[in-house]
Amino acid sequence: MKAARLMLRGAGSLSSAVPREVEHFSRYSPSPLSIKQLLDFGTENACERTSFAFLRQELPVRLANILKEIDILPDRLVNTSSVQLVKSWYIQSLMDLVEFHDKNPEDQKALSDFIDALITVRNRNHNVVPTMAQGIIEYKDACPVDLVTNQNLQYFLDRFYMNRISTRMLMNQHILIFSDRKTGNPSHIGSIDPNCDVVAVIEDAFESSRLLCDQYYLTSPEMKLTQVNGKVPGQPIHIVYVPSHLHHMLFELFKNAMRATVEHQENWPSLSPIEVTVVLGKEDLTIKISDRGGGVPLRITDRLFSYTYTTAPTPVMDNSRNAPLAGFGYGLPISRLYAKYFQGDLNLYSLSGYGTDAIIYLKALSTESIEKLPVFNKSAFKHYQTSPEAGDWCVPSKEPKDLSKEKVAM
Ligand SMILES: Nc1ncnc2c1ncn2[C@@H]1O[C@H](COP(=O)(O)OP(=O)(O)OP(=O)(O)O)[C@@H](O)[C@H]1O
Ligand SMILES: [Mg+2]
Repeated sequence: MKAARLMLRGAGSLSSAVPREVEHFSRYSPSPLSIKQLLDFGTENACERTSFAFLRQELPVRLANILKEIDILPDRLVNTSSVQLVKSWYIQSLMDLVEFHDKNPEDQKALSDFIDALITVRNRNHNVVPTMAQGIIEYKDACPVDLVTNQNLQYFLDRFYMNRISTRMLMNQHILIFSDRKTGNPSHIGSIDPNCDVVAVIEDAFESSRLLCDQYYLTSPEMKLTQVNGKVPGQPIHIVYVPSHLHHMLFELFKNAMRATVEHQENWPSLSPIEVTVVLGKEDLTIKISDRGGGVPLRITDRLFSYTYTTAPTPVMDNSRNAPLAGFGYGLPISRLYAKYFQGDLNLYSLSGYGTDAIIYLKALSTESIEKLPVFNKSAFKHYQTSPEAGDWCVPSKEPKDLSKEKVAM
């Protein structure tokens, strides 16, 4: 352990040394949990010792897997001060948790120290998203990035941020369920609501987005909501889910829909409402958000989920309380990760010239809501090794031939 700590000091000071603990834990694959299993940790049979024993192994495994993936990114990216900082946080967090491997789960002091350690790790990793984003900006500013590298970055960021969503979820569950200083909603199990009122979350996210929209544009559209419970007709729609995740996705989609609506309908006598349809089926809970904000051309649709893709002006970060309505280009890609985390999805379908339908799909059953986790293995490694190849579809030339003239010549 001591040797590892010495090496760690090196890592904190921007050296690329990686403790052998990272190698060790990266050989294990993460173990995805279902929402049902997460609930079981926190219900009658709640056992802090079982959760402790699981997390002291599982969290280092998840951290080590993603650390290995960071290491195969281009050197010029890994060596940016921002990525080195993120790496040092992850290594430090892994080592903090490894300390508990020789502790007895029956020891009350070890259990409460573990909660403190989780809080430290969670706080340390608070700024991971903007710091990693800064690393990417530094790298792209320093050297031109080709198409394949761009695709690899997208692939990496999806996996990196998904890994972070998952580790935060596990840490939060343990802290919320077993900490003496209980906070949060008493009917929730950690951050999971076993009876999540979907329409209430939709209304709440809509109001939060509306507040921003009013601040920015001095106007905002209304919402028109339709709900269909296809399982028990006429009954309100409830699922087992993490309301904060659902709120995050809806808030991002509402901000986008409102911005598009207000900008596209600038000279209209009144704004069209944003139409929300929520349907509970046997397998899926689907939420469709339809706006009449003019849509986006098909050519651009794929790019909407690229990190940093935005058509909004760069937001001014003046430390005021006003959050920007748009401008980072992280809203859609991160929301899609939240949807995919428990085996759902999030897509955008646009009718260019008219409007956009954004659809969130979630699993209706908690037994099917199982974490979707990246694993660092040969296939992941291979993914980064692909080199640019010629396409196997013809590329139309920029200036199409004038066929009418050709006909005349024939
Ligand atoms: N409903 C929509 N109608 C029209 N364009 C949209 C819609 N939703 C997204 N877009 C386009 O996709 C881009 C990316 O959206 P995204 O939410 O990822 O980032 P953003 O809104 O620009 O910034 P932020 O990260 O602050 O959300 C937007 O800038 C906008 O051009
Ligand atoms: Mg947005």
